[in-house]
Amino acid sequence: MSDKKDRIALIGFMATGKTTIGPRLAKELNFDFIDTDEMIEQKTGLKISEIFERFGEKKFRELEFSALKEAMAMEKIVVSTGGGIILSPINRTLLQSKAFVVTLECSPRTVYFRVKNNQNRPLLNKDKNLFKSIEKMMSERSQFYDICDYKISTDRGSANKCCNTIIEVYKKTDLR
Ligand code: S3P
Repeated sequence: MSDKKDRIALIGFMATGKTTIGPRLAKELNFDFIDTDEMIEQKTGLKISEIFERFGEKKFRELEFSALKEAMAMEKIVVSTGGGIILSPINRTLLQSKAFVVTLECSPRTVYFRVKNNQNRPLLNKDKNLFKSIEKMMSERSQFYDICDYKISTDRGSANKCCNTIIEVYKKTDLR
């Protein structure tokens, strides 16, 4: 029978390390790895930024919901999600009921330095005051990132260390 232990979902603000840590976690646990943004790009043949540009955020969120549903039906899987996946109540319920949910968090300053030269984040690209927008968006979303089973900071420490800590907690958490 499938339970929460079959899946680990990484949630968190943009550039908190989900795409770096996800594959490492999967490798260590001998799970598969999937990224909801990559699923969407593969399905549409478009970059996330192109989807926003051509069809708008609403369409992107619909595609994101479908990708999450698909991912939550898989087993022995680590799923990295887009930073806004938690905005939808249905997505939050799906995540909480189907996966061991881990929030990666870091300071607005860390996010700023990680994203400032990156062009593939449509929600941040247009902003003149990038740091202020990060702070604002992060604080608006913080309550939703709290839906997790475990939260870890990626401000300091290596990705490997972070990954080992998550595995330790995952293994000792009784999720049945
Ligand atoms: C988004 C985060 C992005 C991507 C899209 C929207 C968001 O993913 O899904 O640009 O709303 O925070 P990352 O968190 O991997 O950057």
